Amino acid sequence: MIGIFDSGFGGLSVLKHFLYCLPKYGYIYLGDNARAPYGNKSQDVIYNYTKEAIDFLFFHKCKLIIVACNTASSQALRKIQKEYLPRAYPGKRVLGVVRPMAEAIASTEDIYKVGVIGTRATIESNVYKIELIKLKPGLEIFQKSTPLLVPLVEEGCINENETKMIIHKYLQPLKEKKIQSLILGCTHYPFLLDNIKKIIGSKCQVHDPGEIIVKSLKKYLSRHPELGIKKAPDQELEFFTTDDIVKFRKTGEIFLKQKIRKLEKIKL
Ligand code: DGL
Repeated sequence: MIGIFDSGFGGLSVLKHFLYCLPKYGYIYLGDNARAPYGNKSQDVIYNYTKEAIDFLFFHKCKLIIVACNTASSQALRKIQKEYLPRAYPGKRVLGVVRPMAEAIASTEDIYKVGVIGTRATIESNVYKIELIKLKPGLEIFQKSTPLLVPLVEEGCINENETKMIIHKYLQPLKEKKIQSLILGCTHYPFLLDNIKKIIGSKCQVHDPGEIIVKSLKKYLSRHPELGIKKAPDQELEFFTTDDIVKFRKTGEIFLKQKIRKLEKIKL
């Protein structure tokens, strides 16, 4: 099984692509909805929450975990990979989403000005900036934290005029910098992709991060047969949430555009 962890519903924007492009694998999705949003919490708290999620997913027989949440990736992943995994789960792997995104953008020709939007924690960590500069030192990077977008998505306010106004206000300073590419550094933002594209304009490319992450996962799986992640004739898919299952099913099915069958409420 492959585990996918997010602070809430956002990781469904990534899972959607896994189910479409890598349909024969087994997946366990864990959304820590009860404690979301993570974006305004301290590093310590985010680290501990992420560690608990990882324990849960490894306990449920995941061989590989994708931390889909950018906030958890930026605040906890490195420490987990360097300190916690070798000690607690030697031989197991936890991957994040920042590196594949940064690689995709840095390898695009004729891109010199990049915008990044994300939660406060992700933007303040400079994680995208650091990775991008490592890969392409001449890049100019303009960052903006956009904290109101997560609650708007969680409430399902995708096409409301208020949402469009807020996106406009957030993107204006990046537009003025004439960015050529915009990184959606939060799993919730792809649900706003159409509006973000319209508002930022056609001169700026905006990828759906899930498309890039799934390509990178595909390569990773073919390079690492030793992990023993096998395809199965039928798709296995289980969901866990730390909050109400009725709300998770309702909102989750809208975001995922498919039925959520196996779903359980858990406590981390
Ligand atoms: N899913 C988180 C991310 O990708 C954002 C939501 C939150 O603040 O918990 O950054």
